[in-house]
Amino acid sequence: MTDHYRPFQLLYVSRLARGTDPGVVTAIATSSQEKNFARDISGALLFDGSWFAQLLEGAEAEVRLLMGTIDKDLRHEQVEVLAAGRFGLPRLTDRWSYRRCESSLLESLTSGDPTVRDEVALATFMSTLAAASDV
Ligand SMILES: Cc1cc2nc3c(=O)[nH]c(=O)nc-3n(C[C@H](O)[C@H](O)[C@H](O)COP(=O)(O)O)c2cc1C
Repeated sequence: MTDHYRPFQLLYVSRLARGTDPGVVTAIATSSQEKNFARDISGALLFDGSWFAQLLEGAEAEVRLLMGTIDKDLRHEQVEVLAAGRFGLPRLTDRWSYRRCESSLLESLTSGDPTVRDEVALATFMSTLAAASDV
C-alpha cells in the first residue's frame, strides 16, 4: 500500500503568539497551499482567531520535516502534538485547506483533555473541520 492510502498523519494544536497580528494567518495559508501541494501533503489548518489546529498527512519524512519547521515558527506557541503516526486510516482530506472557525469548536482539542489523542483527536478534528466555513 502506498503512502497515499495509508499516510502518516500528524495533528497538533497551538496558539497565536502574543503580540502577533492574526492577519499573518492569511499569508501563512496562502504560502502553505503551494508548498504543501508540492510535497504531496494534504490536511487542513483551522484557526479561531487565537488557537490553531492543523492536520498534516502524507509521507512520514515530508510531514516530519514540515512539522520541524512549523514547530520553530515564532508566530505561534504552546505547540502540542495530539496525534502522530500511521493509524491505518486513508487520507482524511484530499487537499490542503485553511478554514476559520468559532472558538467553541476548537475547545475539545485545546482543553488538554488527555483522552483526546490519536484516533479520537483525528475524529474530533474532522468533525470540527466539517462544521467550519471555507475562508
Ligand atoms: C500555525 C502555522 C501553520 C503553518 N502551516 C504551514 C504549512 O502547512 N505548510 C508550510 O509550508 N508552512 C506552514 N507554516 C509556515 C512555516 O512555519 C514556515 O514559515 C514556512 O514553511 C517557511 O517556508 P520557507 O522555509 O520556504 O521560508 C505554518 C506556520 C504556522 C504558524
